Amino acid sequence: AQETKEFTIGFSQCTEGDAWRKAMHKEMAREASFHPELSLQIKDAKNSNATQIKQIREFINQKVDLLIVSPNESEPISGVVEEAFEKGIPVILVDRKINSSSYSAYVGADNFQIGKLAGDYVVNLLKGKGKVIEVWGLEGSSPAIERHKGFLEAVHKFPQVQVVAQVKGEWEKEIAKDRFPAVFKEHQDADLVFAHNDVMALGSFESLNGFEAQSKLKFIGFDALGGPNGGLQLVEDGILDATFLYPTGGEEIIQLAYNILHNRPFKKENILNTTVIDERNVHILKQQTNKIISQEENINRQQNKINEQIKIYNNQRTLLYILVFS
Ligand code: FRU
Repeated sequence: AQETKEFTIGFSQCTEGDAWRKAMHKEMAREASFHPELSLQIKDAKNSNATQIKQIREFINQKVDLLIVSPNESEPISGVVEEAFEKGIPVILVDRKINSSSYSAYVGADNFQIGKLAGDYVVNLLKGKGKVIEVWGLEGSSPAIERHKGFLEAVHKFPQVQVVAQVKGEWEKEIAKDRFPAVFKEHQDADLVFAHNDVMALGSFESLNGFEAQSKLKFIGFDALGGPNGGLQLVEDGILDATFLYPTGGEEIIQLAYNILHNRPFKKENILNTTVIDERNVHILKQQTNKIISQEENINRQQNKINEQIKIYNNQRTLLYILVFS
C-alpha cells in the first residue's frame, strides 16, 4: 500500500463557547473528513490570553505540522505566534489578527470594510441624524478595533450622527446584558445600538425587558448565523434591524492548511465576502441557509456510512487473513 504522510494540525481557539465558533468547528471537521491524513487538535483558551499563550507553547513543543490561531487579543498573543512561525511551523490566523506579519496566511472577512458597511447602513437608517450607543467586542481584539474604525469612517461625514456612549461587552451576550442598562440610563435619548456582534445586540435588547425603550431603539449586529438564536432569526423577528454576514471560513481554513502542508500554492490574505441582511433579504437568506444546513447533514450521514463500510471491510480482511494463514 502507498504510504501517505500524516499531519497534525493544532488549532488554538480563543473561545469555544459560542455558536459562531461551534459552526466553524463543524465546518472544519467536515472538510477535514475529506483528507484523512489530516488530524486536527483543538485547544480552547476560554477567552484568556495567558491560557492561549500556554496552549500555543504546548503545540510548539509537540512539534505540530501546522498551527491555526484565532488570537484572543492581538498584542498579548503576537509574541508566541512569532515564536512558532520563526521555528518553522506554518501559521494560519483566522478571524482575528496579531500585530506582526510573522504568519503564513490569514482567513477572515475584512472587519474594517464590514464596519464601514454598517456605518453607511446606520446613516441611511437614521436619515443622517441620531445618537448611537456602541457595544464593543473585546477591546484588544482586531475585529472590535477594525469594526469600530470602519464604522466611524462612514459616520464621520455626517456630524449629526453621533456615538454618544460605549459599553464594554467583550463579545459576550451576558456581559453586554449586564452592562448595557447603566450606560443606557445616562443616554435614554439614544436612537440606535451598534453592537460588534449579534449576541451582544441581543443581550442589550433583553436587558431592556419591560421598558418602553426596547421597542423604540434600533439594533444592529454582526455574524448573521442561521439557527434558532442566530442573527437571521433576530432580523426576521424584528429584534435586529440588520446584521452583517461574518463567515466563519471553516472550509477555507482546512483547504488552506491542506495546500500549505502539501506544498501547493496559496495566498497570504484570504478575505471572505460579507453582505448586509435586513428585512428585505432575510427570508431568502434563511431559506438558503436551511438548505445548506440540510445538505451538510446529508454529507455527514454519507461520511458515517463510508466509515461503517470501511470498518466492515477491515474486519473481513482480518478474517480472510486468519483463514488463509492459520
Ligand atoms: C465569536 C465572535 C463573533 C465575532 C467574532 C470576532 O467568538 O465573538 O461573534 O464576530 O468572534 O472575533
